Amino acid sequence: MSSIRHITVPVPSRKVGQQSVVGLTAAPMETVRIGIVGLGIRGLQAVKRLQHIPGAQVSALCDVNAASLEAARAETPQAWAGTDWKELCAQPCVDLVYICTDWQHHVPVALEAMDHGKHVAVEVPAAGTLEDIWALVDKAEQTRLHCMMLENSVYDHFERVALAMAQEGVFGEIVHAEGAYLHKLDFGKEVWRREYNRGHRGDVYPTHGIGPVCQALGIHRTDALQTLVSLDTAAFTGRAITGDAAFANGDQTNTLLKTAQGKTILIEHNVMTPRPYSRMYQLVGTQGYAAKYPVPQICLWQDGEEVIYEGEQLKALMAPYDTAGLPEELLPAVQEVDAKHEGMDLLMDYRLIQALREGRPLDMDVYDLAEWCALAPLSLLSIENGGAPVEFPQFVRE
Ligand SMILES: NC(=O)c1ccc[n+]([C@@H]2O[C@H](COP(=O)([O-])OP(=O)(O)OC[C@H]3O[C@@H](n4cnc5c(N)ncnc54)[C@H](O)[C@@H]3O)[C@@H](O)[C@H]2O)c1
Repeated sequence: MSSIRHITVPVPSRKVGQQSVVGLTAAPMETVRIGIVGLGIRGLQAVKRLQHIPGAQVSALCDVNAASLEAARAETPQAWAGTDWKELCAQPCVDLVYICTDWQHHVPVALEAMDHGKHVAVEVPAAGTLEDIWALVDKAEQTRLHCMMLENSVYDHFERVALAMAQEGVFGEIVHAEGAYLHKLDFGKEVWRREYNRGHRGDVYPTHGIGPVCQALGIHRTDALQTLVSLDTAAFTGRAITGDAAFANGDQTNTLLKTAQGKTILIEHNVMTPRPYSRMYQLVGTQGYAAKYPVPQICLWQDGEEVIYEGEQLKALMAPYDTAGLPEELLPAVQEVDAKHEGMDLLMDYRLIQALREGRPLDMDVYDLAEWCALAPLSLLSIENGGAPVEFPQFVRE
């Protein structure tokens, strides 16, 4: 019998005295004072959103771009403002550093913030290399501070309510799940993302796809990611639009994962070719099925038959499970600041701030961040080895 070589990556041991932060809580705080680094599209949106959230106060602002800094200052003139993120991380008026820069700055700012005793919320993807991911896990464990990735797709209505249904057992045992980021980017405008894709192969933007399905499968709670294999296409589009024969990111990257409980996950990435936006989001269970794209659908096995719910019937089916939404008082703010994302960003911020105010564990911990981000370097490793299986490192180290 032939055996296939599995690639393993090192799991660094914990330093003496360093402990797991699963279920981490911090002392409650009446007001959460927030310093935002990176005030481009996402950062400015966050400044506007956070002003609606009870107990949140934007207390510091930082961007190297003068126009971006000014636009944010116009929203919150009383906040400290500067161009040096190290200075922002040192400000006594900051409890939480909220990072909305380009990808390269996420990790250095997050580490500096925790070194100064601040909790961290960092945009997606928080980190792109295993070294950086371990640095964030280790720093969170050493400082016992929250380090949460701002993965908003888990708060989108369908994913959130389907998760509640899955946790109630409506779909039976979930045996397979799918997620994706399928969205042609405008590389004429999104220059730093184009350049990142030029230099990096693999699923470089995995967290919107993998986050919600990991939650539904209880990853590092009741199950664990065990092995992955990845294959990509050639970089047909990247090479054509840049004229660069060395453009790295393939048009489509496909990753299959197996869990310790024997379940599978399919994750896709395609920011190159024209196709309708999709995060796929499918849950395949022994008693039912949920899919968000292209048309939201749930299929349940009822009295020996498949019953398909769509449209108004689907709404009625999901309504009783929709219990973790925004409080009534924040609903007008959805239209004002968050209509494009239908309130999911507002709900993400609301739940983060409320958990900090009440001293509760956050919805997502640093191990979620680690597992979801690790898909990028691990998919690359598999691709570069002809689609070889890669053992998924256990970031919880238990
Ligand atoms: N969750 C989502 O739905 C979602 C959507 C889009 C983007 N994002 C993520 O949000 C982040 C920001 O994306 P964006 O579209 O707002 O980008 P952007 O380019 O509009 O903004 C980035 C900002 O960071 C600033 N910046 C760069 N270097 C800096 C430094 N050294 N110090 C301070 N500021 C610095 C830039 O000047 C810019 O204003 C990215 O990580 C991206 O992946 C998330």
